[in-house]
Amino acid sequence: MSLQKALLLEKAKSPFVVTDVPIPKPGPGQISVKVISAALNPVDWKIQAFNFLVEKYPAILGSDFAGDVEEIGEGVQGFSKGDKVFCQGSFTSEMGGFQQYALNPAELVGKIPSNIDYAQAASIPLGFMTAAVGIMSASGAALNPTCTFDSSVTFSGKPAFVFGGSASVGQYAIQIFKILGFSTIITYASARHADFLKSLGATHVIDRAEVSVDSLAEVVKKITNNSPIEIAFNAVGDPDSRAACLNSLAQGGKLADVSPQAKEQGDGKKVFTIYGSGHTPQNREFGRILWKHLPRMIQDGTVVPNRVEKLPNGLVGIDDGLKKMKAHQVSGVKLIAFPQEVAVV
Ligand SMILES: NC(=O)c1ccc[n+]([C@@H]2O[C@H](COP(=O)([O-])OP(=O)(O)OC[C@H]3O[C@@H](n4cnc5c(N)ncnc54)[C@H](OP(=O)(O)O)[C@@H]3O)[C@@H](O)[C@H]2O)c1
Repeated sequence: MSLQKALLLEKAKSPFVVTDVPIPKPGPGQISVKVISAALNPVDWKIQAFNFLVEKYPAILGSDFAGDVEEIGEGVQGFSKGDKVFCQGSFTSEMGGFQQYALNPAELVGKIPSNIDYAQAASIPLGFMTAAVGIMSASGAALNPTCTFDSSVTFSGKPAFVFGGSASVGQYAIQIFKILGFSTIITYASARHADFLKSLGATHVIDRAEVSVDSLAEVVKKITNNSPIEIAFNAVGDPDSRAACLNSLAQGGKLADVSPQAKEQGDGKKVFTIYGSGHTPQNREFGRILWKHLPRMIQDGTVVPNRVEKLPNGLVGIDDGLKKMKAHQVSGVKLIAFPQEVAVV
């Protein structure tokens, strides 16, 4: 049996350890990927701290990875060994990115466009999928449930609001509103990210150091000249951010929220809790279509990756990165680890 290195959560709430585990073999419809880069996400430290989503321990986490096709399962077409690919991981160990070789269903894998590298590619899948599911899909606000990404779907003339535009997911929400043709895209974020967020499509960046959450809705409404905001995206997900989003919305408006705690308020505004995975039965078809469009939209500059911060020390470095994330020390970048690298600490 061939072995590889993986970052393992041996049991619920245990520390992470790097250890040898078998290299998984792809089943029908799957490919195996030699993981070159893996992105860190808040869900990784939250699973370790609170024990949810993972059904079986020991567990390998990691919701985004990019690398080279290693092996191809039965029935898979369109991929060859050595192709550079990226994909969204899942919460079964074989499909986690925090290991040197991981599996994924081929229909949820994209080839990395030539204008981005492995690290940038790993910054995209979970964040983009979460924003797309929340804004576009039938399990979210359903603005483009068939996931066509074409100019026949346009919200030209309308405003949209993103709470937390500098978050990884927030950056993709801004870009999706731009793709859908919204004319005014307002976001609440730190001013140091304003130029970058405007380059992604934000038309107005409200500085979160200047405007309190309590007075945010008023400022948002002034920007739109009281034209009703029918759609908001909450990339932060705490109760204060949710209240500000709901206060900014018009009657009958829709809020897509990253938090599983988001609930209907009973005031005529719709709240959609996002589960941003393309692997689930309810999102699978949406995910399959999205992966057909995504590489092209990156190649032509329609979708721009997060800015990345590259972590040292291979799989070992992930633990320090997650601690930084938990301590709110990550601002406007995606942390990326390199599982093939050997730790020097
Ligand atoms: N439901 C799902 O399927 C799903 C999927 C992915 C993520 N999530 C959740 O979505 C949230 C965001 O994830 P992420 O990966 O995008 O996180 P992230 O990039 O690590 O978020 C950090 C960013 O959030 C910004 N931020 C934090 N609090 C803020 C506030 N009060 N106002 C404005 N901006 C604020 C920070 O802004 P500064 O630059 O100003 O510090 C920082 O840039 C997390 O809670 C995550 O667990 C849910």
